[in-house]
Amino acid sequence: MLSNTIFSVDLAQSIGTAGEFRKTVAEIMKEVATPNVADYFPVLKKLDPLGVRRRTAIHFSKILDVFHDLVSRRKKLGENTGSITNNDILDVLISKENREVMEGERIQRLSLDLFLAGIDTTTSTLEWAMAELLRNPRAMSKAKVELEKTIGRGKPVEGSDIAKLPYLQAILKETFRLHPAVPFLLPRKAEIDVELGGYTIPKGAQVLVNVWAIGRDASLWKNAEQFIPERFLDSEIDVKGRNFELTPFGAGRRLCPGYPLALRMLLLMLGSLVNCFDWKLEGGLKAEQMDMDDKFGITLEKAQPVVVVPYSRLHTVG
Ligand code: HEM
Repeated sequence: MLSNTIFSVDLAQSIGTAGEFRKTVAEIMKEVATPNVADYFPVLKKLDPLGVRRRTAIHFSKILDVFHDLVSRRKKLGENTGSITNNDILDVLISKENREVMEGERIQRLSLDLFLAGIDTTTSTLEWAMAELLRNPRAMSKAKVELEKTIGRGKPVEGSDIAKLPYLQAILKETFRLHPAVPFLLPRKAEIDVELGGYTIPKGAQVLVNVWAIGRDASLWKNAEQFIPERFLDSEIDVKGRNFELTPFGAGRRLCPGYPLALRMLLLMLGSLVNCFDWKLEGGLKAEQMDMDDKFGITLEKAQPVVVVPYSRLHTVG
């Protein structure tokens, strides 16, 4: 969905073996999240003792080459036909209005940022949402009923359906509360000494905001450890950085710029998976036996992937 939005190309299918692109992105995320001794002792930066910089550079250049190819092909097409017609983000970036700002490698670099920020975050949120629904059959069947009543059994969700699916939206918020994809947001640095809640954060200190812990804080949330989407049905709390008890996309000026796209993609994907298929855990595993441990990197992923078998809902009755 992301590569189609930006380039009108399905990168998951089109480079080398399927999944190679995704694998390279996952490798980059792993390297970026690895504590690197050279970050704390700058004198070691050039030596790159753990090889993080060297390996990351190789991954980056692989992806940048692909983007370079896509950008130059589109530019050539524009020159040949005199018009730009894909109506995607790339069209906007290479349009006359943006030509000066987007010179040189900037389109490729910006696209790399968007892909790195947008792939693992949305994927892991979707996996956690499915895992929670499999463990909470009551929530799963409520979601199915809402989808069936609103758009009809077995149909994929479309953009115009989203506003009519409050329970599905509540499921996503509850997933963000318990499994925020970026559990410490991105590191910040205090520009001046700051007093906060009786503590002094000294100038220059690195600040990590633990949204994972805030989401499970029993003084903020009733039955904090339980998955209860209903808590959001009559609530004003949203995920757009206005309610500090739930800020999976951060808040303020550096709020995630991809959040409208992320919410839309997630609701389309989750709603379609739930409405088009019934799901069973592989190998007869019971939902309560499912491993819900997380694996911490920049993004919070499931330590053990959810392995499920889909059964089409168009062919089942009841
Ligand atoms: C579940 C999905 C996502 C989550 C949970 C998420 C979360 C975040 C968070 C927490 C930040 C840092 C905010 C801060 O430090 O205050 C961030 C930054 C960012 N996100 Fe997302 N994000 C998601 C999806 C996306 C998507 C789909 C895109 C773009 C296609 C995207 C693009 C970005 C970019 C470019 C930044 C850096 C912004 C800056 O530095 O000013 N994100 N995101």
